[in-house]
Amino acid sequence: MSILEIRDLYVAVEDKTILKGVNLTVKGGETHAIMGPNGTGKSTLASVVMGHPKYTILSGSILLDGEDITTLAVDERSRKGIFLAMQAPIEVPGVTNFDFVKTAVQAHMPNDKKLRIGKFILDFESAAQDLQMGTGLAHRYLNEGFSGGEKKRNEILQMKLIKPAIAFLDEIDSGLDVDALRIVGENVTAMKSNDLGMILITHYQRLLDYIEPDFVHIMIKGEIVKTGGKELITKIDVEGYDWLKAELGVTELEEIRKPVSLGTCATKVPLK
Ligand SMILES: Nc1ncnc2c1ncn2[C@@H]1O[C@H](COP(=O)(O)OP(=O)(O)OP(=O)(O)O)[C@@H](O)[C@H]1O
Ligand SMILES: [Mg+2]
Repeated sequence: MSILEIRDLYVAVEDKTILKGVNLTVKGGETHAIMGPNGTGKSTLASVVMGHPKYTILSGSILLDGEDITTLAVDERSRKGIFLAMQAPIEVPGVTNFDFVKTAVQAHMPNDKKLRIGKFILDFESAAQDLQMGTGLAHRYLNEGFSGGEKKRNEILQMKLIKPAIAFLDEIDSGLDVDALRIVGENVTAMKSNDLGMILITHYQRLLDYIEPDFVHIMIKGEIVKTGGKELITKIDVEGYDWLKAELGVTELEEIRKPVSLGTCATKVPLK
């Protein structure tokens, strides 16, 4: 069982501070939902934990099982069990879907172990079938020409085969029709176990009807401003965020804290 601890994280991109003191702990077996208005920093949080080099960590830390991973490269974080299903998966012409996932799964195995290709083919086909994806998918280039819904299912296909310990699913519901939403929801729920901690980023209750969260966090302007249970989802679905902004006096959250230095995600600079 893994534990991800995000401690007082301040993050900037270009000259703008996006995350302003995020604290979040996710343990294996737990499902967390992060909701919040557009542009509030939800995807930034997921990208920073995954190690996207565009973001500068100004201060704070990200610990996985007690180890500070803020200076590790993306592939090292991935090998340690972190996974990101991207809000907008990228297309990689020239690399087939099958080769991509096969290489990723092999890269997650210990150096002295080799992937058994026959078993992997069966696992791949079975996962694709669970997600009701077309049969030609394996040999198409990664995400190239995939519909929005196919790209999202493909992220879940990768997750099923890579078997991460901590997974961020960033708007995995966007672009899915109602049947696809149910299929993705059921597949993700079937993956729930003490070996998997999940963070679902979403705008809508409908995903959380299929994947039940244990905790719901609301992020506004780069801070997690409220944490609760499922009752928060219903309230947001009905009332939006205005009540919360009013309750918190959102202008206080808008205070701009200029980043003191720029660099890569691996750079940690104390915040003045
Ligand atoms: N690479 C980048 N370059 C410039 N600005 C960025 C970059 N990444 C994020 N931002 C800015 O940071 C802010 C937060 O963006 P982010 O994508 O994290 O929001 P979000 O909460 O995921 O929004 P949404 O619900 O619309 O997906 C936005 O104002 C965005 O324009
Ligand atoms: Mg986003």
